[in-house]
Amino acid sequence: MKFYILTILPGYFEGPLREGILGKALQRGDLKIEIINIRNFADDPHRTVDDLPYGGGEGMVLKPEPIVKAIESVKNNEKKQRVIAMTPAGRLLNQKIVRELSEFDEIIILCGRYEGIDERVLEHFCDDLISIGDYVLTGGEPAAIVLIDAVSRFVPGVVGNRKCVEEESFSRGLLDYPQWTRPAVFRGIPVPDVLLSGNHKEIRKWRMMKAIERTLKRRPEIIREELLTDEEIEILKKLKGKV
Ligand code: 6GU
Repeated sequence: MKFYILTILPGYFEGPLREGILGKALQRGDLKIEIINIRNFADDPHRTVDDLPYGGGEGMVLKPEPIVKAIESVKNNEKKQRVIAMTPAGRLLNQKIVRELSEFDEIIILCGRYEGIDERVLEHFCDDLISIGDYVLTGGEPAAIVLIDAVSRFVPGVVGNRKCVEEESFSRGLLDYPQWTRPAVFRGIPVPDVLLSGNHKEIRKWRMMKAIERTLKRRPEIIREELLTDEEIEILKKLKGKV
C-alpha cells in the first residue's frame, strides 16, 4: 500500500510515521509514503498556495491550481487509487471506511489548511472527503496521520498478528474487554480474582460480560445486535436493566 500526502507542511510528517509499527512497516517496504509539497506546484515567483475568499470573510483559501497539479503528478491509471481530502466538512471516519480504503493500491491524501480548500478541487478532483471527528483542527495533517495509521493496520504484513486486527473494538460493535498485567496488586488495587483463577471458560464469559457492560455504559450507539452471538445478546439483555 502506498500513501501520497499532499500538504503545504511537509516537515510535519517527519516524525510520527517513522516510529513504532508504521516505522517498521515502512522500513520493510510493506508500506510506502511519499510526501508531496503542494508549494512545489505553484509556478508564480512567490509560489503562492492561498488567496482571499471570493465573497469576503475570514482567512485564506487554498488555491486550486497547485493542488490539482500536485494530484495530477501522482495519478496513475494502472493503479487502484483513491483521492481523499481531509476536511472537517467530510464524512466521519469509522472502521468500515478504514477497511474499505485498505483495498486500494494507493491513497492520495490532500491536507487542507487555513479556512479551506477551493470547492472545485473537492467536487471535481477528489473521490471522498473525510473528517476524523466533530472538533476543529488547524489543518488536515494530524487527520492524515490518523487515517494512514488506521488503514495501515489492515495492510498485510504491517501488524504481525492478524488476529489482533479483526478482533478489536468496532469490528463487531463492542468495545474491547479491559486488561490487566502484573503485579497482581498495584498500590493496593487488586486484579479481578477470576483472571487469576485459571478457569478459561469462566474468564471468557466474564470478559464478554465486561465488554458488553462498558459498551452499554460508554458507547451504546455502536452496539449492533445483528453481529452478536446468542450468548452475547443474552448478557446484553440482562445488563440493559442494570447499566
Ligand atoms: Cl480532516 N481537518 C480539520 N482541519 N479539522 C478536522 C478534521 C480534519 N477532522 C476533524 N476535524
